Amino acid sequence: MTPIPQPLQVVILAAGQGKRMHSSLPKVVHPLAGRPLLSHVIDAARELAPETLCVVVGHAAEAVRRSIAADGISWAVQERQLGTGHAVLQAMPHLRDEGMVLVLYGDVPLIAPQTLRSLVAAAGDSDLALLTQELADPKGYGRIVRDPAGRVVRIVEEKDASAAERAIREVNTGILAAPRRRLAAWLAALRNDNAQGEYYLTDVVAAAAADATRIETRHPGAPHECLGVNSKVELASLERRLQMNEASRLLESGVTLADPARIDVRGELVCGRDVTIDVNCIFEGRVSLADGVRIGANCILRDATVGARTEVKPFTLIEEAAIGADARIGPYARIRPGTTLADEVHVGNFVEVKASTFGRGSKANHLAYVGDSSVGSAVNIGAGTITCNYDGASKHRTVIEDDVHIGSDVQLVAPVTVGKGATIAAGATIVKDVPPGGLTLTEAKQVTKPGWERPRKK
Ligand code: UD1
Ligand code: CA
Repeated sequence: MTPIPQPLQVVILAAGQGKRMHSSLPKVVHPLAGRPLLSHVIDAARELAPETLCVVVGHAAEAVRRSIAADGISWAVQERQLGTGHAVLQAMPHLRDEGMVLVLYGDVPLIAPQTLRSLVAAAGDSDLALLTQELADPKGYGRIVRDPAGRVVRIVEEKDASAAERAIREVNTGILAAPRRRLAAWLAALRNDNAQGEYYLTDVVAAAAADATRIETRHPGAPHECLGVNSKVELASLERRLQMNEASRLLESGVTLADPARIDVRGELVCGRDVTIDVNCIFEGRVSLADGVRIGANCILRDATVGARTEVKPFTLIEEAAIGADARIGPYARIRPGTTLADEVHVGNFVEVKASTFGRGSKANHLAYVGDSSVGSAVNIGAGTITCNYDGASKHRTVIEDDVHIGSDVQLVAPVTVGKGATIAAGATIVKDVPPGGLTLTEAKQVTKPGWERPRKK
């Protein structure tokens, strides 16, 4: 790995409003793969282990700050957005007086750490390094102006460029690295007598050239790394690109995807061997799927672990839960936070489980609600059974011991315990603890009124 000059100080510009997003959410807070744009940039910067990481905020500064949970960031405020040069100037008091400064953008989220490493290494201890790119259509970008010997002499913004300059296809990505002391001097001399009346960061290039500073250029490892987000169209296109990369990574590691274009990973998905994922599944937070897990179509899993060979059938939602091995969940199951299901558990269609544990081999196959419950092993919960865990003020627990058999349409009014091996008849409303073993029933006697006539319409 190329050595990086130290100390490295990273400045991320994130003060702009992002008018073209047409949103009340600040631009850099918009989620990409489930995380704010800005946090992708912070993560890339962190890979270089900078001594300082300073984010310049301005528009909706508080909202931006709140969206980033990370520690170790110093926040600089740019009250008015007077240009990219002015923005970097606001960061200067937060930086140590020496070392190298790397400038990044909160709305350019796919930048790769390896590209940044090569740029910072190119700056060495004393040179200015620019990340530039050749584009077939350079429209809208600042152009890199070189002298006949090929040396960079300045950057001209499109709005200030002559027709000849507009024909230049080498553009400024905006990302640059420069020695802290030199950068401060160049910034202090910036003027805003240009087409946009702004203090352009790009004008430091002409100042550096005038100082006879060596100006190095580097290109990104992949062209898409420098794509910025200015609109929802661009945000959606980066999202697809990122998801396609993630799908390729999964395929290459041996996961079977029914369609790599129909999976969304908004966090970290870890898969064992021979995992199969059908279409339209969403994985959020940290999800791990052990060997041989099969996920049916249209499932959503957030912060969950699934044990080996377990099958999650279509249309199942699992959040903050741990599922054991050889289990069968769904279709149409809802597993809510705080749930732990042991090996060989079956939870079927239209069953909701919340903050409960199920022991090995227990089943709730149809239309049930199990909340705040401890369910032992080899328990069978019949269709239509519900735990009445809420009395309008507090939640209460239900304990169902091993080997209990609960018939259909039973209400268990918590707090209540059903003893080991008990059987509860269909339709019972259980309000008191049930002793182990035996049959408990509460339903009314069945009677028939012969000759009874249904009311008729007149
Ligand atoms: C800038 C570059 C241009 C380059 C292009 C790449 C300048 C003068 N021009 O132009 O050469 O080709 O990026 O996309 O630098 N920002 C602030 N405070 C400000 C102004 C901007 O924080 O006062 C932030 C914005 O939020 C944005 C970034 O800086 O994230 C770039 O600003 P923007 O106005 O989009 O610059 P461009 O005109 O695109
Ligand atoms: Ca821009």
